[in-house]
Amino acid sequence: MTNQTPPPDNADDGTPAEYAGSTAATTSSAAIDPHVSTHRAEPIPDPGLPEHTWRPTDVDPRAEKRAERQVAAMFGAAMLCSVLFVVAYFTFDIGDNWDTVAGLGASTVTLGLTLGMALLLIGIGIIHWARKLMSDHELVEMRHPAASPPEDREATVAALNAGLDESGIGRRPLIRNTMIGAVGFLGLPAVVALRDLAPGDVLDIDRLAHTIWEPGMRLVRDVVGTPILASEMEMGDLINAAPEALFPSEENGYPELHGVEEQVEKAKGAIIIVRMNPDDITPAEGREKWTVDGIICYSKICTHVGCPISLYERTTHHVLCPCHQSTFDLADSAKVVFGPAARPLPQLPLAVDEEGYLVAQSDFTEPIGASYWEREKHEQQLQD
Ligand code: FES
Repeated sequence: MTNQTPPPDNADDGTPAEYAGSTAATTSSAAIDPHVSTHRAEPIPDPGLPEHTWRPTDVDPRAEKRAERQVAAMFGAAMLCSVLFVVAYFTFDIGDNWDTVAGLGASTVTLGLTLGMALLLIGIGIIHWARKLMSDHELVEMRHPAASPPEDREATVAALNAGLDESGIGRRPLIRNTMIGAVGFLGLPAVVALRDLAPGDVLDIDRLAHTIWEPGMRLVRDVVGTPILASEMEMGDLINAAPEALFPSEENGYPELHGVEEQVEKAKGAIIIVRMNPDDITPAEGREKWTVDGIICYSKICTHVGCPISLYERTTHHVLCPCHQSTFDLADSAKVVFGPAARPLPQLPLAVDEEGYLVAQSDFTEPIGASYWEREKHEQQLQD
């Protein structure tokens, strides 16, 4: 049942022309009024629906136009906020100006405000659009059993399609286009923020190409940090090791590392050392003096996507990565003999110091770990 009374001064039948169809639809819904279809007498008389009040935007074209401009202005302001987010991202350094607002940095405040305002304005714009401009008519519907029959579902789809039509998205290109623009511009902050998935100083890719290893740094056992005498290693041994700089002491004089920096250096500097018959080794060109009595050292980080490897088969000198089964031949410059890895494990040039401990001749001469963008360029730089 419906009780709509259209404004008297707007059309022959008193209904704004735009809503004439919906009023007809509403009237037809009276045929399924539960109060009419029931055969029991109602103990309390049905008071019916209150008289419908048309909104100013339904009857005043100027009010309608004004509301349309307001919605478009909100979507436009949302676009501006998205652009300001990007500007703020590149203008303020993280950690600068911590006292800007209540101990929050300028970067935090501006990024939060601009992105928050963009989302808020889009939300308010959509609500305003729905409240002021979308169709305004009342419906009465019978209660249904929980499971909807197929015809009801078809009717729902038809109603949704009708709702789309009634939203006026086709008739109001200004709102449609500004809303599409506002939502599209929201992609800008998302894309720009992806930059932060990389390590700090992301554009300084050289940082990824170097590790903490340096000439003369001792190789020490992983976890315990004890140096390794070359004479201690037995044929077929594999030792998981690390740079001595990660175990600073008064004796070795390396500075303490903390937090992220320590974790990053630990990950990049991890190595495996194996000892094999020197006659089994096929040194790559220029690497003839990188081993010590059959002791050879490689990065422990798989060149596929960076898992740590250490499953060693001493008879074949193959080492297997447990993640995707890439297999490297340690006797032959750690070339890939199986699996998805695309390049050999980087080799660390070895020597012994005056006390007989294993030391590095230098840093790795190529980037360690998984491949990343611009790798070829940096490998070339390292070789130059
Ligand atoms: S990470 Fe080693 S094979 Fe994939």
